[in-house]
Amino acid sequence: MPNPPSSHFHRRLRGAVAARLNDAFGLGLDDIPAQPAKRGEDLLFLRRWLANPLKVGSVLPSSPALARLVAKNVKVGEDQAVLELGAGTGAVTRALRASGIQNDRLFVVEIDGRMAAFLRKQFASLQVIHGDATNLSQLLPVAWHGRIGTVICGIPMVNLPLSVQKRIVDACFSVLAPDGRLLQFTYLPVSPLPKGRLGLTGKRMGTTILNLPPASVWSYKRVEPEAA
Ligand SMILES: C[S@@+](CC[C@H](N)C(=O)[O-])C[C@H]1O[C@@H](n2cnc3c(N)ncnc32)[C@H](O)[C@@H]1O
Repeated sequence: MPNPPSSHFHRRLRGAVAARLNDAFGLGLDDIPAQPAKRGEDLLFLRRWLANPLKVGSVLPSSPALARLVAKNVKVGEDQAVLELGAGTGAVTRALRASGIQNDRLFVVEIDGRMAAFLRKQFASLQVIHGDATNLSQLLPVAWHGRIGTVICGIPMVNLPLSVQKRIVDACFSVLAPDGRLLQFTYLPVSPLPKGRLGLTGKRMGTTILNLPPASVWSYKRVEPEAA
């Protein structure tokens, strides 16, 4: 007799959680082999979280399922590039590369020096910028201002005061193309950005329960000024 759908669902969910914990800490769960490279990446992430929990915002990198959901929602034109803020150890970067975005069309910004160094080692020729996203307009080469199709923000914005959120959001829209979008992923069940106070419209593009904890991707645009 086939398993009822809920039991199939629970087995898959348990498998995904076990695989993540196993990969991260080599717990030997469910006979899933731990991957030493992935474990090293997860340990670096955990150490940087211990050093700066509010800035890093999560104990583990995003899961492949969340990274794929982000990559699926990226829009980029022929003469445009993609910008990722708060790239961490490159979980989302990897999915962007796998979705066909080339290194010369991808910029990543990371404030943590050790994570930025890790990214440089992991992704040869990726354009890694070690810096604070609030200074985005000084960090991104001027030739790309106005030519960013999508900004992906992995920074835990909910931990920041409104004034800093505003600086980062304003910096993003100063480099986005007129039809560009800002993507933000979150563990919250509601919009991670206060849309009204930041002058944004936004909608949830999808949710994955195969992340620990479950996460959603939101897409934002600027509220168009009223036509005079
Ligand atoms: C939740 S982690 C996300 C990491 C990675 N994108 C992922 O999905 O696994 C947030 C990352 O944002 C970085 N970060 C926090 N504030 C930042 C800022 N102002 N500018 C650039 N990066 C920042 C942190 O160092 C950390 O690597």
